[in-house]
Parts: sequence; structure tokens; C-alpha cells
Amino acid sequence: MKILGKYPSVRLRRNRKYGWVRRLVAENNLTVDDLILPIFVREGKGKIEKIKSMPGCNRYTIDKLNNIINTASKLKIPLVAIFPNTPGIKKNSIGSEALNEDNLVCRAIKKIKKINPNIGVMADVALDPYTNHGHDGILKKKEILNDETINILSKQALLQSQMGCDVIAPSDMMDGRVGIIRKTLDKNNFKNVQILSYAAKYASNFYGPFRDAIGSKNKLKGDKKTYQMDNKNSSEALREVALDIKEGADFVMVKPALPYIDIIKSIKDTFKIPVFGYQVSGEYAMIKNSINSGNLRDDVILESLMSIKRSGASAIVTYFAIDVARKIK
Ligand code: PBG
Repeated sequence: MKILGKYPSVRLRRNRKYGWVRRLVAENNLTVDDLILPIFVREGKGKIEKIKSMPGCNRYTIDKLNNIINTASKLKIPLVAIFPNTPGIKKNSIGSEALNEDNLVCRAIKKIKKINPNIGVMADVALDPYTNHGHDGILKKKEILNDETINILSKQALLQSQMGCDVIAPSDMMDGRVGIIRKTLDKNNFKNVQILSYAAKYASNFYGPFRDAIGSKNKLKGDKKTYQMDNKNSSEALREVALDIKEGADFVMVKPALPYIDIIKSIKDTFKIPVFGYQVSGEYAMIKNSINSGNLRDDVILESLMSIKRSGASAIVTYFAIDVARKIK
């Protein structure tokens, strides 16, 4: 880039002098339209249970969803994402609870659509909330079976669509799952259900608190490195995205977000597709704990989200969604 002019006739600080001029020259902005709110659901009645590993986040029983959905609706948060804490007794080696039409996610989708038909509802497609080994697919002799798993996932996606889910979000990282899900939805008259592919999902240590929140932490055998991406790689993320676009993804997710904003940027520069970032549980907990201990001011929340936006994200999944929506209103 050619720099025109020089000091002292040029002083970049002039455009930073007052709040009003900083607003005029701002290159990026964060609004409520950028926020996706994750919600954890659990079995039982009348309970809002604190999640210890994620201070400020709760697990809701289905009958207690009214308040949080009404709050999100009033704040105009466009989309909520549901994550189930499935009781241990319902988990097995093939995650069959994923296909139970009365499971937590199915009931939550119906309930949320009843409370407000105009708020978008998204649900993950993956088996980890339902397997007794904590993996996202079927485990056979230490191998996560790809083709057998995507078969089940396409049924899970269909079931969630039948319940009224707007956005199907495969977070499993099996090969070919977007294609088979798209085909299954199209064949069954769900042509307008969107697919948000977790295209670049890394095998990350930042997921710890989430696994605790859905009750898979102590169950997980080994790690997820044979299907989630290696954090040393970036070009590979572009191959993942290219394939998912071909298979019919409407938008793609990068996860985690802040440690991987370089990936968001290169996807944004390479493809004409909306890219979302997922500020995951470990990112949330680090920031939240530092604020609670007085080490960081809470403006750090907006700063972290602005970094993700600046890298090119159109929207961000964040456990701070409600706080932030209130703050920037
Ligand atoms: C699993 C899934 C994970 C998250 C969302 N969906 C964890 C994992 O892959 O083990 C993590 C979200 C977070 O940490 O906030 N399919």
C-alpha cells in the first residue's frame, strides 16, 4: 500500500480525537443482528441449573424456556442454538437417543417455536450428546465410523427439521455429511431448511467447559483428532469449506473463533459464502473468569467479538449474546 503524505502534515490521531469522529470512521461494527445465543436444555421440571464450568450460563428444563426466549426475542437476537444435557441412562454406544422424536432437542424446538415462531432455531447434528463414549459418531474398535455415522446424522437432521428447526448445524466433522443431509432434506420436502456447516472445526482444548455442560466430559474416551481438524493447518480449512459449499451448505462455521480468526479471514477472502465464528465455552470461561476476578474490564467482551467480526465473520455464536445485546442496544 502506498502511503500518501507524511508527518507533520499528516496526523492520524486527528481522526481519533473525539467519540463522534471515531464513530464516523469506524470500519466495522457489532450489532444484535450478529449474535447467536446458545441454550442448554435438561430433563425435569421447573429447574434453571447453573453450569459451574461456565459462570453465568444455565441449563433450562423445557418448561423454563419462556423467560430466556422472550428476553432473546425482545432484544431481537435472530437465532438461538439448542444443546441438550442428555441423562446418562439414555446414552448408548450408537447414540440412538438422537433419533428419539421425544428427545430434549425435539421438545425444545417445538417449545421455542410455540413461544415465538419468529425467532430462528438452530440445532447441532452430531452424536456426542447421546453416546456413552462422548464421540460424535459410532465407535468401533477405536475407529469412528464415517459412512455409518452420516447415515444416522441424516436421519437426525430430518427429525429436527420435522420438529420445526430452521437451521441444521452438522458439528461432527464426518466426511460427506452435508451432502447426504441436503439430499435427505430435499427428498422429504425440507428444501428450505438451511445447513450451517461446522466446516472448519478444530480438535480444540477450548471445548472443555461445554463438554461438562452437556455431560460428556467424563465420558469422552481419547480425543477427537481423527475427525476434527489439526490446529497446525489452515489450507485444509479451505478444502473443507469448498467441499461443504459443493454439498449444499448455506453458511459455514469456524470453531473456536478468536484463536482461529486467520481462518475466518482466509475463508472470507476466498469464498462468497457467509462465515460465522463460534466463540466457544473455553473462550467464554477464560474471559468471564478474568472479569469476575477483577483482572479484566468487561469491555473485553466487545473487543473479543469485534476481533471476530473484523476478521470477516457475519455472525457469532456466543454465550455472551444476551449481555452484549443489552449493552449495545
Ligand atoms: C459437539 C460440539 C462441541 C461444541 C459444540 N458442538 C464440542 C466437541 O466437539 O467436543 C463445543 C462448543 C463449545 O465449546 O462452546 N458436536
